[in-house]
Amino acid sequence: MKKIRKAVFPVAGLGTRFLPATKAVPKEMLTVVDKPVIEYAVEEARAAGIEHFVFVTGRNKGVIEDHFDIQVELQSTLKARGKTAELEALSASLPVAGTATFTRQQEPLGLGHAVWCARDIVGDEPFALLLPDMVMKGEPGCLAQMMEIYDAYGGNVLSLEACDPEHVSRYGIVGLGEPAGKGHRLTEMIEKPSVDAAPSNLFINGRYILQPEIMGLLARHERGAGNEIQLTDAMIKLAESQAFYGVKFNGKSFDCGNKVGFLEANVAFALDRSDIAAEFRDVVTALLAENGAG
Ligand code: UTP
Repeated sequence: MKKIRKAVFPVAGLGTRFLPATKAVPKEMLTVVDKPVIEYAVEEARAAGIEHFVFVTGRNKGVIEDHFDIQVELQSTLKARGKTAELEALSASLPVAGTATFTRQQEPLGLGHAVWCARDIVGDEPFALLLPDMVMKGEPGCLAQMMEIYDAYGGNVLSLEACDPEHVSRYGIVGLGEPAGKGHRLTEMIEKPSVDAAPSNLFINGRYILQPEIMGLLARHERGAGNEIQLTDAMIKLAESQAFYGVKFNGKSFDCGNKVGFLEANVAFALDRSDIAAEFRDVVTALLAENGAG
């Protein structure tokens, strides 16, 4: 069974739900506390053993590339000021030279198309796919939890989470089959089903381990919902010839692609930070009291 060495991060979306913030700043660079959203996904991938980071970017996303590069002036200033902790934090988040690759999706034709844009870099090996909008809080990380299933069963592995059964039409929903370790073999995947058609309330939460054959299916450029090239459509086809497994994420995800999820992530991560939690809790409590909710 081939090791998962590469992870793809699609970051070419327009982020229209965050305008005007995302007019010049990519939404993946918005911060949860003091770290850009994209860095949470990269750290999660690194902790799961990923060696090569592939970013599918678009126009106005150059700052993501800069973020994962050395800032010579900043580093020498920090050094001169004796700011060792900050220097160490910066170098810990830097990919080893040659292990970050950037490619462009010239037009935002959909998630499936963004993944396909990474085909030559991914090559003929299975890979991880992380949607950076979904910030995961869990120990071990979400991708590491999925690797356990992959190491035992191979195939394709999706991370799952339960949603309100009334909300299934917002998500890609799966049907569970026989148990497989901590997960299950999947019997079905269906994009945005109606409440009646949904096989469960378990949705695909933005983390995937996929076999390279997905690229051949995406190459057909078939348009799906919203006239976009949809990843789920290609996965449904791949499931006709390959096994898909799903594992419920033991942790909590935050959808930072929408405003409330992004704000919730900031509050949750701030309350978990020993350096600011106590002061922040007081501030939030006072604000809630002022709003009549305390
Ligand atoms: P979203 O559905 O959140 O779309 O994409 P979006 O364009 O980024 O944001 P809104 O809806 O306009 O606010 C989910 C993920 O797929 C990537 C996005 O960058 C995000 O990580 N994506 C989406 C692409 O890379 N290319 C696309 O054509 C579409």
